[in-house]
Amino acid sequence: MRRVVLIGFMGAGKTTVGRALAEKLRCAFRDLDDMIERRDGRTIAQIFNSAGEPAFRRLESDVLRDLLQDSKGNGDLILALGGGAFVQAENRAQLEQAGSTTVWLEAPLAELERRCMAENKERPLAREQERFTRLFAARQADYALAQFRVQTENKGPHQVAAEIEELLKQRQSGGRK
Ligand code: S3P
Repeated sequence: MRRVVLIGFMGAGKTTVGRALAEKLRCAFRDLDDMIERRDGRTIAQIFNSAGEPAFRRLESDVLRDLLQDSKGNGDLILALGGGAFVQAENRAQLEQAGSTTVWLEAPLAELERRCMAENKERPLAREQERFTRLFAARQADYALAQFRVQTENKGPHQVAAEIEELLKQRQSGGRK
């Protein structure tokens, strides 16, 4: 059983690439933000607005823990995290304990900004450019703790998914990143 977890900043393409990869590998796909919204009954933006970020982070960790527990022994899974989930040490520890393979989808700040503006997903932490830029810089060291990294600049989701598939194959045959 493999658990491949896509991490990275807002706009990195974790959800779209995750779906493409799951299709390629013919396995299940989950998006942590979607699961949070389904469990809570509010959108991510509503949770931020009414309960605040610390409450969102607690919910995020709870949903991740339950997902890792419930998916045990259920076959391969591709999981897309929200941009802040891997920054929490507790979540990284949970993922490691569950034997996850973590992949950082990287892109330059300007491209992430462009992608976020082009999507109509409401992102509470992308409302102010200055904060977006600060968070981007502050999170790089945590993202770098992922086992693999893939540069996504100027690449479509299928190309990125193919690169991840290749990395996974190499790893299985004993190669390193
Ligand atoms: C967040 C990213 C969002 C979502 C929430 C917080 C973050 O997910 O989890 O708005 O802290 O970077 P995406 O990375 O999918 O936009």
